[in-house]
Amino acid sequence: MLYYKVMTTINKKTKIDTVVEVVDVNNLKKVKDTTIKEFVNQKKVSEAGDCAVYTNSKGQQTYLVVVNNKKEARKIRNAGAHSCAWAIGVKAKNVKFIGDVTEGFVEGFLNRNYLFTKYKTDKKQPKNIEGIETDVKVSKETLNCVSGSHLARDLMNEPSNVLYPEAYAKRVQKIFSGISGVSIKVLGEKELKKLNMNLMLAVGQGSRKESKMVVMEYKGGSGKGYDMALVGKGVTFDTGGISIKPGIGMEGMKLDMGGSATVVGSLYTIAKNKTKKNVVGLIGLVENMPDGDATNPGDIITAASGKTVEIINTDAEGRLVLADVLHYAQEKYKPKNMLDFATLTGAIVVALGAEYAGVFSNDEKLSEKIIEASKQTNEEAWVMPIHENYLKRMSTSVADLRNLSVVAMDSGAGTAAAFLKEFVKPSTKWAHFDIAGSSFPSSYNAYTGGKEPCGWGVAMIQELIKKL
Ligand code: BES
Ligand code: ZN
Ligand code: ZN
Repeated sequence: MLYYKVMTTINKKTKIDTVVEVVDVNNLKKVKDTTIKEFVNQKKVSEAGDCAVYTNSKGQQTYLVVVNNKKEARKIRNAGAHSCAWAIGVKAKNVKFIGDVTEGFVEGFLNRNYLFTKYKTDKKQPKNIEGIETDVKVSKETLNCVSGSHLARDLMNEPSNVLYPEAYAKRVQKIFSGISGVSIKVLGEKELKKLNMNLMLAVGQGSRKESKMVVMEYKGGSGKGYDMALVGKGVTFDTGGISIKPGIGMEGMKLDMGGSATVVGSLYTIAKNKTKKNVVGLIGLVENMPDGDATNPGDIITAASGKTVEIINTDAEGRLVLADVLHYAQEKYKPKNMLDFATLTGAIVVALGAEYAGVFSNDEKLSEKIIEASKQTNEEAWVMPIHENYLKRMSTSVADLRNLSVVAMDSGAGTAAAFLKEFVKPSTKWAHFDIAGSSFPSSYNAYTGGKEPCGWGVAMIQELIKKL
């Protein structure tokens, strides 16, 4: 099953209605067409992604896209994405690329070619571009990356009344049912209890919806062990629990499963690409609700690892879910590398905005590779520290750890990472991605344009795995 079908060659009979002409900024002087020259001069086009609509002599709408610098992978992808937004805006159907086109440009274009109109009953909605024609070779790998990102976005866009833990687990089973090499295991509350995953269960216990952990095993490598574990926070809705959040903007907390969406999208891409590595994905799916059965601040819970945690604030729930899933991933799969993805803290948004995911790691070489991969894929990341003092502020007199720093104005993202590190073995190369900013809607994100979340990390992970 190809999750998202991208047409890269158009049947000769298909009418091209739009031409996208790509001009590298360094080649502007070489442009012979006077209309384009005039446009460039008049509008002072110089930035990647600047677009304008023309009608050429054949009556086709023609776009001019200026790419700043062919060597800047990120800008090329952004230019492609912007031109797709233009094309959708003018109701283009079949688009031909000419000029200084690169695979990255097409990738950016296709990534933006995504609309979530499933719940709109008025069918007069903008439509996706149906086909593209280009001389540039667009690899299957690239298309699978785009599909994986779109899959992650589909999952994020679903509301929590549709995608609650059990429904989400079923959806994952369905997604992978036609894909070879992936086996899916779904664990319910009974099994989670047996595994002593009490931290995760404590988050979900105020909800009527049963908590689930979904495990996706992919074996593409020749070795026996696992090269990589990908762990995702899947809070299908985060009300804050008893430490309830304010009402304004709370609807956005349906996106609190963004980390798990990245993991599902990645496993999809990795499997479709027949990547020669063994990768396991694990997502902790819970709903964080206030209720008579909910966990109270002050409660002390024993984690699967045996460590005890005093719950100070039930809204700091992501780290509780991750702690147990990270522990289980290491016990069961002994992965060489382990990455976790989570919309974990508001603090990372304050620090980095939507532009970067925050990366916290126990291995310098791994974080270097992550930054390289993130630059190549337009999914930018920034390495953040885990100072040894952070953990000191996560201690309490009544348990091994508390789930919130003792200091009110603290490095909230850093102390959360310090908490997670307590559940990671020093021998596991680990990186934690706080994607609360980067996966949420941002008008500066060229792939989404603003209203939609993005499946941050799918392309970056694929690139990183090649480097391991
Ligand atoms: N899911 C939130 C983090 C979040 C905030 C994601 C904004 C996306 C956008 C997380 O569970 C949370 O509530 N964090 C609190 C922690 C606080 C209670 C210590 C936060 O960051 O405010
Ligand atoms: Zn929360
Ligand atoms: Zn949360």
